[in-house]
Amino acid sequence: MRTFGVKRAIHAPRCEVKPSSRTVHAGRELGARSPLAPDVSPASVHVFTDLDDYDAVARGEKPGYYYGRNSNANREMLERAVAELEGAEAGVATASGMAALYAAILALAPRPATILATRELYGGTAALLRQDLEPNGYEIHFLDLTDLDAVRRSVQGAGLVIAETITNPLCRVPDLEAIASMARERGVPFLVDNTFATPLLCRPLDLGATAVMHSATKYLGGHSDLVAGVVVGDAGLIAAARARVARTGTPLGPFDAWLALRGLRTLDVRMRRHSENSLALARALHGMRGVVRVYHPLLEGGNRLLAHGSGGMMAFDLDGGREAVQQMIKRFQLVTFAASLGGVETTVSYPEITSHRSMSAEERAELGVGPGTVRVSVGIEDPDDIVADFAQALS
Ligand SMILES: Cc1ncc(COP(=O)(O)O)c(C=O)c1O
Repeated sequence: MRTFGVKRAIHAPRCEVKPSSRTVHAGRELGARSPLAPDVSPASVHVFTDLDDYDAVARGEKPGYYYGRNSNANREMLERAVAELEGAEAGVATASGMAALYAAILALAPRPATILATRELYGGTAALLRQDLEPNGYEIHFLDLTDLDAVRRSVQGAGLVIAETITNPLCRVPDLEAIASMARERGVPFLVDNTFATPLLCRPLDLGATAVMHSATKYLGGHSDLVAGVVVGDAGLIAAARARVARTGTPLGPFDAWLALRGLRTLDVRMRRHSENSLALARALHGMRGVVRVYHPLLEGGNRLLAHGSGGMMAFDLDGGREAVQQMIKRFQLVTFAASLGGVETTVSYPEITSHRSMSAEERAELGVGPGTVRVSVGIEDPDDIVADFAQALS
């Protein structure tokens, strides 16, 4: 039985339960007369009658909330839930995945340092590193994190390593455990973007990562109806990230936190179905007209880091480039084109103008992302319907 342990329980479970059960309950403790679903708490400020009481709450010595930019009940439930699922001491929820990433990077490397980042990085992350951190003295080295010799050569002297559990868009899986061990030996913090895998399929902290971030906009929320981010790690790191989030005014709003927690409750059933459907589509796409290459984390066989499935992300190359992709999109009857992922609906995106638009054509080509590359976020519809829609759109 695979059960979830927490390094130091911030919200101790009453009994040891499996991940799917924990997903349903994490982040909340119910007492007599508690609402079964949480209330939304939109208040921007709470009132006090005692100055010492306010002081203690503001210092974090007493539970409670005082000002919405610093603390909020709905945000706290989501933070606790994600921390619990990732096996972390604490978490902080932010207005977007990018805000989470920025807070995490600055908590881990507050002063200019060399950042090693996976070459095949979400384009928005690459843009943040280049356009916001590089001009402020950070040195950014992009490298292929699946090449462990290259990591070994570069990690010495680095101030931070950033990886994605499953790379975007070609769905490769770097050996997080080996990278974490090299980073730890040299005292270099290791940040993992676990957006594509979620804590149900991979827990990077268990593999030695220092901190984990999510775009909760994707699978954690799961319904394409919110924008949110979460960072989890040890209590000291998260305190630093939380303080920066409060100072820079990028916390998650109460209703989005409420929605994200509601989405999280069904994460287990969704991820199982996403995983089955993406593998079914990847196998079927192989034989379809114009498909020259299919990318899926588990198509070639199992991966020990993703023992329970890989979720809904996959990609393929279509002969005929942009024109062929446009034709396919026009013919879809069920699938839609959308510049996001992780929702219950099957969507395709076109990295050239969506996730990787901030890169030059040469940079994309170096990664293997060409004009025929299509990324698919496979939803939870019936797999036969998904496969049939691709088959007719490509026929
Ligand atoms: C892997 C990954 N990380 C981070 C982000 C940024 O998240 P957000 O759009 O919630 O800011 C995205 C967005 O697409 C993503 O795909």
